[in-house]
Amino acid sequence: MTRKVTKAIFPVAGLGTRFLPATKSIPKEIMTLVDRPLIQYAIDEARAAGIKEFIFVTSRGKGALEDYFDHAHELENTLRKSGKDDLLELLRHTNMESGAIAYIRQHKAMGLGHAVWCARRLVADEPFAVLLTDDVIQGEPPCLQQMIEAHAETGGSMVATMEVPTDKTSSYGVLDVAEDMGAIVRVRGLVEKPKQNPPSNLAVIGRYILAPTVMENLNKLKQGAGGEIQLTDAIADEIDAGRAVYGLRFRGQRFDCGSKAGFLQATVAFGLAREELRAEFLDYLQDVLAMSKAAE
Ligand code: G1P
Repeated sequence: MTRKVTKAIFPVAGLGTRFLPATKSIPKEIMTLVDRPLIQYAIDEARAAGIKEFIFVTSRGKGALEDYFDHAHELENTLRKSGKDDLLELLRHTNMESGAIAYIRQHKAMGLGHAVWCARRLVADEPFAVLLTDDVIQGEPPCLQQMIEAHAETGGSMVATMEVPTDKTSSYGVLDVAEDMGAIVRVRGLVEKPKQNPPSNLAVIGRYILAPTVMENLNKLKQGAGGEIQLTDAIADEIDAGRAVYGLRFRGQRFDCGSKAGFLQATVAFGLAREELRAEFLDYLQDVLAMSKAAE
C-alpha cells in the first residue's frame, strides 16, 4: 500500500521577469486567468486530489499572494448583508482552513530543487506533491488526481509528462524511457534541459508526486543545468539508488502560463470553457478571425 499523499509544495518564489512590468508590483501567481489568479487553479487542483496541507515556498515581494488566502472579513460582511450568496460562495474557495497553509521563504534564488528542499522539514518522511503554477492544466479528472490514482498503483515517484516537439525539449526536463506501458512509462533517467540529443520527446510537466527520499537527494545541493539545484536531478538520483520513477501521460491540455503566448492561449481556452462567457466570447473570436482573413 502506498501512503496517502496529503501535502503539496507550491514553489512560488520566482521573480516572474517574463511578465515585467506587471510583476514589478504583483506576484506572477496572482496574474489572472479569466477571473481567478493562477495560484487558485493550482490550489483547486490540489484540493480535488485530496491534498490537505499546502506549503508555499515564497520570496520577498510575495505579500499579495499570502494575503490572497486570508479571510476578507469586511468584504464578506458586506456581501452577506446584501444577500450576495453566490459571491460569498466564490470567496469560500479562496479561504484556507487555519493551519492548512504554511509559508517558507527561499532566501536565495538557487533553483527549483532548492525551493522544494526549503520545505523539507514540513514534509518529513511522507510522499508529497509539487505543483508548478506556471503549468495550468485543463483536465477531467484534474491532472494531479489522475497522478494520485496512478501512483496508488505504482508507488515510487511520478512526474506528469507529455510529448513535445524535438526542438522544444531543451526547455524541459526530459525522460529517458525504460518501459512504455501506454499512459504510464517507467523511467530510466531524466535530463534537465538537454542542449542536444534529448533521450526522448517526453517532457516533464510541472506536477510531481515524490518519495520522501527525493528530499534526501536534495540534501546534496548539487548544482545542475544552468548552475541551479535541479529537482529533475534529485528525481534522477532515485533511479541510481534503485528506486522506481514513472511518468504519467495525463489526459488534458497544458498551458505554459510562464510565457505570454501560453497565457493568452489559456485565457482563450478557459474563457470558452465558461458557460456564461462562451457565446459572446466565441462570437468575438470568430469576428477577429474573419477580419484577419479578410485583411490577408
Ligand atoms: C521546470 C523544471 C523542468 C520542467 C518544467 C515544466 O523548468 O525544471 O524540468 O520540464 O518546469 O514546466 P522551468 O520551466 O521552471 O525552467
